[in-house]
Amino acid sequence: MMKLRVAGLKQYFGGLKAVDTVSLDAKQSEILAIIGPNGAGKTTVINAITGLRKPTAGTVWLGDKTITGLAANRIAELGIARTFQNIELFEHASVLDNIQLGFYRHRKVTLCAELFNLPSARAEAVNARLAAEKILHYLDLVSWRDKAVSGLSYGIRKQVELGRALCSAPSFLILDEPASGLTREETLDLGYFLRDLAKNRGIGILMIEHDMGLVSRVADHVIAMNEGRILAKGSAPEVQSNADVIECYLGSEMV
Ligand SMILES: Nc1ncnc2c1ncn2[C@@H]1O[C@H](COP(=O)(O)OP(=O)(O)OP(=O)(O)O)[C@@H](O)[C@H]1O
Ligand SMILES: [Mg+2]
Repeated sequence: MMKLRVAGLKQYFGGLKAVDTVSLDAKQSEILAIIGPNGAGKTTVINAITGLRKPTAGTVWLGDKTITGLAANRIAELGIARTFQNIELFEHASVLDNIQLGFYRHRKVTLCAELFNLPSARAEAVNARLAAEKILHYLDLVSWRDKAVSGLSYGIRKQVELGRALCSAPSFLILDEPASGLTREETLDLGYFLRDLAKNRGIGILMIEHDMGLVSRVADHVIAMNEGRILAKGSAPEVQSNADVIECYLGSEMV
């Protein structure tokens, strides 16, 4: 089983220490949740892991390979897929086309083959389509298949974004607040998918989440962050009962 490891990660914006010496380990087949108040540095951590921003210091490993500071598309090619806090989709393209885009980390054909519609390009397009159709079924999105994303509900759009990430057949899936804006029922479904992806398909999941019900149901391990630092690590019950976590985060959420 491969690990995604982060050691001594720092991300400074001028004088602001948005992330200050964060280390974590995520494993395939496991779900690691990061919780913490607004501005704690959670998204900044995953932006550094996924190559959106080069960290000020620290190292990120995927297996035994150092991936720190590689370009985002290179990191995606290596098998780390992500979703965004504000959904990022091609709004005027269909659900199927958006999901299919995720496949292209496997792209092998040359531009020339594609331009001349050579057999290699056609075969790849068929594979991409098949992969996307499988994901449509898995996420129960078949009835939305040919609809433009722009007209769909928030919950469906979030599922399409998850589908695009899954279509790249990632080793690790990084999700930024996957349950935010979802109905209670959609959140329950999401929990079911996340457990299945980790436990039956071996994907490592690193998710930032504020919904403590979902975190308690699905996370194998929880990290609580505050002001760029890790406050507590452990199982969901351990972290939820940690006095510092209650004071900085959960206390205010519970009031
Ligand atoms: N590009 C940037 N330039 C300057 N400051 C930034 C930048 N990105 C994030 N920050 C700051 O870094 C801190 C951490 O932000 P981050 O988005 O990582 O928080 P978060 O834990 O994801 O919060 P939320 O729960 O609200 O999404 C915040 O103070 C934020 O304003
Ligand atoms: Mg965030």
